[in-house]
Amino acid sequence: MAKLYINEKKKKGHINPEIYGHFSEHLGRCIYEGLFVKKDSGIPNINGMRTDVVEALKDIQIPVLRWPGGCFADEYHWMDGIGPKKNRKKMINTHWGGVLEDNSFGTHEFFELCRQLGCKTYINGNVGSGSVKEMSEWVEYMTFDGISPMADMRRENGHDKPWRVDYFGIGNENWGCGGNMTPEYYGNLYRRYQTYVRHYGKAAPINKICGGPNADDDNWTKKVLETCYASPHPENDFHGFMDGLSLHYYVHPGGWDNKGSATDFDEKTWYQTMDKALYMDKLIRLHGAIMDQYDPEKKIGLIVDEWGTWYEVEPGTNPGFLYQQNTMRDALVAALTLNIFNKHCDRVKMACIAQMVNVLQSVILTEGDKMLLTPTYHIFRMYKDHQGAELVESFLTEEETTGMEEYEMPALQESVSMKEDGSILVTLANLSVSDRHFVEIVFAKKKPKEVKAEILNGEIHAHNTFEEPEKVKGKAFEDFAVTDEGISFIIPACSVISLHVS
Ligand code: AHR
Repeated sequence: MAKLYINEKKKKGHINPEIYGHFSEHLGRCIYEGLFVKKDSGIPNINGMRTDVVEALKDIQIPVLRWPGGCFADEYHWMDGIGPKKNRKKMINTHWGGVLEDNSFGTHEFFELCRQLGCKTYINGNVGSGSVKEMSEWVEYMTFDGISPMADMRRENGHDKPWRVDYFGIGNENWGCGGNMTPEYYGNLYRRYQTYVRHYGKAAPINKICGGPNADDDNWTKKVLETCYASPHPENDFHGFMDGLSLHYYVHPGGWDNKGSATDFDEKTWYQTMDKALYMDKLIRLHGAIMDQYDPEKKIGLIVDEWGTWYEVEPGTNPGFLYQQNTMRDALVAALTLNIFNKHCDRVKMACIAQMVNVLQSVILTEGDKMLLTPTYHIFRMYKDHQGAELVESFLTEEETTGMEEYEMPALQESVSMKEDGSILVTLANLSVSDRHFVEIVFAKKKPKEVKAEILNGEIHAHNTFEEPEKVKGKAFEDFAVTDEGISFIIPACSVISLHVS
């Protein structure tokens, strides 16, 4: 039996909605086909954006979208993607599959997509192969309201008013595909490039994201902060040099050279995957501890703008397209990771799962005019009320463990938040492939009046296909009892439960 103690009187921080953010790169079938189709494709769309996909994404309240990459960002020249489509430069997407990129999706299309989704915008600039001038002109093009060469060009291209850029990333993975730089070199470039990411006039300030480490590369974090951290001076509106530092971490179950199949895995690989997903907690504490040395008040966010599972591609698909299926294993990875982010909401201010559609751990897969929602999608839906809520203190008694051989871990993991109206959301995962657990939730004071619960569970390999698109989906969960102290129920193996308690 496990007891989950919830002290709803102790608030531990604000859960920034952006923790539930997404990433869309010019990679494989994410943008083209997945999100954006030709107006005459026969697939229902508004201004090229697939209506089915946009509607499904609206249901999970996408808070922010990162674009255009990824590795693609440091090869992207934004001027190739504006103006009349027939004049836009065609290029080869050298990084991802060597396919033709016709630049028909560019800056205007990105803002149109975000308008339809009702989400914030996160643009990633090019440091690796772009100039300071190019970056500064992009910012001017997007955000300047007055008379200027770039703002005038935007008007000529059909958009009178500037857009709102909420976040701007200065390069991507500059330790690797973004230029193979040393941290000191990148840190100096960062200082220079970010200078020209201007805040124009009354436009809302752009949050600048500095390129952070890969996984556990603490040396990168340390050296970059040493080189380019500058503390903010609120009295003269100087934000410091950065508002966020990124972190990328992918779960490749057997390591980079042995990622394994998305759907065909054994129980040991299941636990290995969970173990690697739980490692996110350690990474946040590691990089957070270094950030604390510079920014003890936690004004700078750790921005986990690429996370998720990464397996071998689906057999028969282009290896450069990173298309993979998504099972209950991915649902559990998403559940654990989002619980970890919630619990670190004092430092983690944004996170973007990689990637939104048809690439890596997607919430949506498409095939022609068909679309399916993955198990990961259902986790985002079940967790969406954590967005903007206050994290509250929770503690799970840890008698229950699971795993096999070298992969031993707690069987249950949770996070709990409270909305302004006092309602509470508990999200609880059971990582065990075989054991169910009796759980008793004990509140400090709260007497539950109404409980609405949902469960996502299934066999560990269960997934949705275009033939059977609703095999895995959330179902109402009614098998609980409201007791004097709280709520009790049995959580089945391999499942995630959300409880809305008012
Ligand atoms: O998401 C796929 C790739 O993974 C991104 O382009 C890159 O930033 C990372 O290595």
